[in-house]
Amino acid sequence: MHALVVVSHPDSASLTHAAAARIAEGIARSGHTAEIADLTAEGFDPRFGAADQAAHLKQAAPPADVVAEQARIDRADALVLVYPVYWWSMPGLMKGWIDRVFANGWAYDEVPGGRTEKKLGRLPVHLVGLGGADRGTYVRHGYDVAMRTQIDHGIFGYCGAPVATSELLLVPPDAVDPAEALAAARALGGRLFEAARRPADAA
Ligand SMILES: Cc1cc2nc3c(=O)[nH]c(=O)nc-3n(C[C@H](O)[C@H](O)[C@H](O)COP(=O)(O)O)c2cc1C
Repeated sequence: MHALVVVSHPDSASLTHAAAARIAEGIARSGHTAEIADLTAEGFDPRFGAADQAAHLKQAAPPADVVAEQARIDRADALVLVYPVYWWSMPGLMKGWIDRVFANGWAYDEVPGGRTEKKLGRLPVHLVGLGGADRGTYVRHGYDVAMRTQIDHGIFGYCGAPVATSELLLVPPDAVDPAEALAAARALGGRLFEAARRPADAA
């Protein structure tokens, strides 16, 4: 099995990148493969432009960079998004990646009669947000619920992609040691394809 691990953070030495690397390591240790897609290093353009709008209206084919991203998701058996929480959501770079790549006709299809066909039912999604605030702040203000509603349900639910994991790894600035967050990331990678292994184990 193969996972695409998409990471959005400007600093390759960040905790976010370390978490993505641990997830990939956990996946590899469990006998599967992972590709890390570093949106910053790859220079992905997150701006939803005229060509994207034309594709959205099905007046033109999607831009080549979008088709390439869709193809690498198509090659994956699971999608993992790893990102720092910015303003109780994902960074603009990752949001733009979703705006452009999870396009009408590929992620979902607006069919005549106003119905929407969900097209990503085959793709388990794992969400790993790293945040600097403590859990009490998330709960008190409802940010955790708001994020799940908007990201898990609003984006992936809309496309039919099952959200298998949705985790916030909270590392306040005064945290003594981020090792716990990294251990959790590796454990997540290790069990990513657990369900897929079970039938073989049973056979
Ligand atoms: C622009 C910006 C917005 C942020 N907004 C939030 C936020 O809304 N909630 C939160 O918990 N942390 C927020 N943070 C803190 C980051 O999530 C935190 O610094 C990051 O996850 C730590 O991981 P890193 O070392 O990989 O950057 C924000 C940081 C930045 C730079």
